[in-house]
Amino acid sequence: MNKYNDQQIIDSWKINAKPWITAIEKDEIESRVLVTNKAIIDAVVGIKSKSVLDIGCGEGWLVRELEKTGIPSLGIDVIPELVAFAKKEGGGRYKVIAYESLSYEKLKETFDVVVCNFSLLGRESVITLFEKIPFLLNNGGSFIIQTIHPVVGCGDSIYKDGWRGGSWGGFSDKFSNPAPWYFRTIKSWKSLFLSNGFSIDKIVEPLNKETQLPASILFIGIKDRN
Ligand SMILES: C[S@@+](CC[C@H](N)C(=O)[O-])C[C@H]1O[C@@H](n2cnc3c(N)ncnc32)[C@H](O)[C@@H]1O
Repeated sequence: MNKYNDQQIIDSWKINAKPWITAIEKDEIESRVLVTNKAIIDAVVGIKSKSVLDIGCGEGWLVRELEKTGIPSLGIDVIPELVAFAKKEGGGRYKVIAYESLSYEKLKETFDVVVCNFSLLGRESVITLFEKIPFLLNNGGSFIIQTIHPVVGCGDSIYKDGWRGGSWGGFSDKFSNPAPWYFRTIKSWKSLFLSNGFSIDKIVEPLNKETQLPASILFIGIKDRN
């Protein structure tokens, strides 16, 4: 049996909610400040939507940014401490919901855009989430994912889907109990979209000008009309 599973990801975020809030508020993650925050904002704002659902919203920074541009947004996350911080900051709506229990029946609303910014980390949780997204999107709606670039994130391991051990390397020493994550190749990300009723509109690879490597990858899927 594999020693890693999706529950370990949630357990890790429970422990690390506080240092995560500090890391985001104090701009401690350089690649976000240099490249990836702008990349995800540009991708969402470029779609001219009237409503956004941010899945795995963390402490809510993206929802707040989108609200500033006039797009009403809802953030959901499994960690009550992160959602409580987001609610306290204001600007947008937030709910404590795990991917595992997210559904149209739970939210009773649909959105023009669903976005996941570095929040799809597991195996089964991501597979089942993909199945639910079409029911949370309006017709022609977009599903945007920003995640670790598989070619860069692969490191010295073989280029094949599978669980990887986590690390908080590059983060402050306040972080502990790093979560495992499920590595997916570019082909696997694409087939998650295609097998769940999406066309892939765009793939973006924003470059970190300092390293000359992609800082992330963005997939922009469009829900096929049924
Ligand atoms: C790397 S953080 C990203 C947070 C936010 N999207 C951002 O850009 O700052 C990953 C987030 O995914 C959330 N998450 C992970 N697994 C989850 C699950 N099964 N259900 C709901 N949220 C989950 C974590 O609680 C955490 O807030």
